[in-house]
Amino acid sequence: MKTITIAHSKGGVSKSTLAWNLAIALRMSGLRVALVDIDGQQVTLEKTSLARTASGYDPFPVIIASSAGELSSIIMKEDYDIVIIDAGGYDYDLGRVAIAIADRIVVPISEESTEVLGFTSFLGTLHTIAEHSPVPAVMIVITRAHARAKSFAGIRSAAALWPSATIAQTVMRRRAVYSASMGHGFGVTELAERHPDAAYEMYRLAREIIYEQY
Ligand SMILES: Nc1ncnc2c1ncn2[C@@H]1O[C@H](COP(=O)(O)OP(=O)(O)OP(=O)(O)O)[C@@H](O)[C@H]1O
Ligand SMILES: [Mg+2]
Repeated sequence: MKTITIAHSKGGVSKSTLAWNLAIALRMSGLRVALVDIDGQQVTLEKTSLARTASGYDPFPVIIASSAGELSSIIMKEDYDIVIIDAGGYDYDLGRVAIAIADRIVVPISEESTEVLGFTSFLGTLHTIAEHSPVPAVMIVITRAHARAKSFAGIRSAAALWPSATIAQTVMRRRAVYSASMGHGFGVTELAERHPDAAYEMYRLAREIIYEQY
């Protein structure tokens, strides 16, 4: 069983969109996936899950955890192959617990300078956690990238500040289907016929996040 925490100290960087789409893609690949929302301020994924049920799709339940005890009991149960935790875009105790107990931290960042700069303050949180426990492997996912963008120099130099960080080769492009599909509780991999590029991108990303060496 592997625990993946999707985190960034900044809001609106694609954490929930990535968490939801990863969870759907991995479940479609046959894995037992627990999707955990620890962002008590917004519970975005719970709303997405309700929208899915309302759309008449097969349910995808989201587990709400509001304490370290609840979080660790989900992980200890061993009922799942993958636990995906969607953390809030701010620095808080439960978010730090979710980072410390993960096998891998996935950090979505776009090229926007505020997100790249925000990564530096996120690293401050990782340094504080490192004083008490080892910090899991960090993988950066480039998100909301324009169709033709390909150098991502700002993100690459920010990533170098955490020498063991890797950057996923698969880039999550800016696509309207991400927000449109989430509104109805779908994942882009379920819309492969009409949105093959988005579906392919998400399957590749899921494979990198789950299987690449930790
Ligand atoms: N690849 C993408 N292409 C287009 N829009 C995207 C993409 N990823 C995310 N978005 C949009 O960006 C906005 C923020 O995304 P999301 O809610 O996933 O961020 P978040 O990091 O979870 O935010 P918060 O910190 O507030 O929880 C949403 O409107 C979402 O639809
Ligand atoms: Mg969110």
